[in-house]
Amino acid sequence: MRTKIVAGNWKMNNNLDETKKLIKGIRKSIKKLPLENTRVIVAPTFVNLNSAVKRAKKSKIEVVAQNMHQAKNGAFTGEVSADMLKSIGIKTVILGHSERRTYFGETDAILAEKVTSAIENKLGVIFCFGELLEDRKSDNHFSVVENQLKKALFHLEEKNFKKIVLAYEPVWAIGTGETASPEQAQEMHAFIRGLFEKQYGKGVASRISILYGGSVKPANAEEIFSKPDVDGGLIGGAALKVEDFTAIIKAI
Ligand code: 13P
Repeated sequence: MRTKIVAGNWKMNNNLDETKKLIKGIRKSIKKLPLENTRVIVAPTFVNLNSAVKRAKKSKIEVVAQNMHQAKNGAFTGEVSADMLKSIGIKTVILGHSERRTYFGETDAILAEKVTSAIENKLGVIFCFGELLEDRKSDNHFSVVENQLKKALFHLEEKNFKKIVLAYEPVWAIGTGETASPEQAQEMHAFIRGLFEKQYGKGVASRISILYGGSVKPANAEEIFSKPDVDGGLIGGAALKVEDFTAIIKAI
């Protein structure tokens, strides 16, 4: 059985006090939930990671980073390395989010380096990708997604995929309130699984968790998660409220 995952990407939200409160609230609200085979993840901003890790100790919450630099160390002002993340107990990093691609110039080539660096450092990766609205309108969404995956991930060895979770996030659905329909999500997730089967075989394809992200809310989570190739969600806005995030976890 594939691991189910509900991950909250907090983006650039929540100061230290808000971070502490939100972790405390989620901790309490999920304590009694049956979460076998299910990971609950939150990704606060860098400055609050250390505190979040401490506050999530001995709970079912995993704290992960939203990004990292590919270099080991050195003159990269404002950046954070894999080693720094590991030194505070971070075990997983989100890479390739569309906001990193759009606003910070992260290309497929850079992302391939970041993924390699994360794997070399034994970090898990939640790898994000997805097409723009114009790609979908021009019916190029499958080829765009295929290219993103090939360029950033297909240099890896089969065994590396134990550490990788995929997150399909159509850019037109992020923060817009417009969600991909459960059918659209399923169609793309099945396509992605097919690509992995072709490249790495049935084992990798059937084991890899594929999350959907883009305006997931309590009202639509259950239907999206009910699709056979959707193994959970990467949640933005709705991950910032204890009740909403908990409702989405219950949906899985
Ligand atoms: P929203 O859930 O706010 O659309 O954001 C999705 C996302 O980008 C998660 O990484």
